[in-house]
Amino acid sequence: MNIAFEKDLEVKGYIDEVINPNINLVEEINRLKKEKNAVILAHYYQEPQIQDLADYIGDSLGLSQQAAKTDADVIVFAGVHFMAETAKILSPSKKVLLPDLKAGCSLADSCPPHLFAKFKEQYPDHLVITYVNCTAELKALSDIVCTSTNAVKIVESLPKDQKIIFGPDKNLGKHIIKQTGRDMVLWNGACMVHEIFADDKLEILKREHPEAKFIAHPECEPHILNQADYIGSTSGLLKYTIEDDSRSYIVATESGIIYQMQKASPDKTFIPAPPNNMCACNDCPYMKLNTVEKLYKAMYYELPEIELDDQLIDKARKPIERMLEISARYGL
Ligand code: 13P
Ligand code: SF4
Repeated sequence: MNIAFEKDLEVKGYIDEVINPNINLVEEINRLKKEKNAVILAHYYQEPQIQDLADYIGDSLGLSQQAAKTDADVIVFAGVHFMAETAKILSPSKKVLLPDLKAGCSLADSCPPHLFAKFKEQYPDHLVITYVNCTAELKALSDIVCTSTNAVKIVESLPKDQKIIFGPDKNLGKHIIKQTGRDMVLWNGACMVHEIFADDKLEILKREHPEAKFIAHPECEPHILNQADYIGSTSGLLKYTIEDDSRSYIVATESGIIYQMQKASPDKTFIPAPPNNMCACNDCPYMKLNTVEKLYKAMYYELPEIELDDQLIDKARKPIERMLEISARYGL
């Protein structure tokens, strides 16, 4: 029995248990990974230490592709609840752990499934496309799921006269409408992290760094996206900063991605776009609930685990698989 914890405790209450300060958490996590045949999947918005421990770091699409194909017995999801749920839906026989079950998502919360079901009833001849940032229940009400990497391609893959409901993110929805010229009925949801970038502070920053390119995630509001030199998912933004010739970038998304940008391009400068509050950069309070300590406890106790009803898994899997099929067709 491992003696990392100060006392031999019951699993109940393990979250508050103090970890022995003399153990090396990185070594212990790597040991547990081997012992339990576990894989750590981390989103780009996780803190740097967690990104460094991960077997795979990626955007929502990449993470779901990894979850679908892994041969690990345990998936430790360093991300938020809807991501871990997606992993469970795609790999129902595996144990999926989320270091902190309170790691939710304001965008997913902005679309309660019972209200969306009523909304959907008003448009019986429409196809339902939902952004992956939503609950499993919402996915079960959908025809196709998408991420910010494949949303435009998925809409373009449908016949031109296909009527579409898109939810929950109205900003991504508006961006897709602009890119594709298609009309879609939008649910009025948004992400709290991407909705608070401040125009006035951005203007000052741009004046201070006239050479910097401005890049933004499509969850940002249209008045922010209209100013962007490039708009893309987290992996799209990262790729852009690697391939583009500029030396500096103002980045409008959650600040966690800057860690990988800086690692990939150490000679370039990355400036987080300022939010409409006293902070200089923009962190997702849900993503940042995960810590290395919680990751370790999750692996040690194999808790907290994502559990979903089999019927819900069956219903929610179809639209996600449709997304993966279309993405594969486009080489995404
Ligand atoms: P992507 O990493 O897929 O661009 O998603 C961003 C996001 O908000 C995840 O919560
Ligand atoms: Fe949800 Fe926004 Fe946080 Fe992403 S950044 S997990 S969309 S609240």
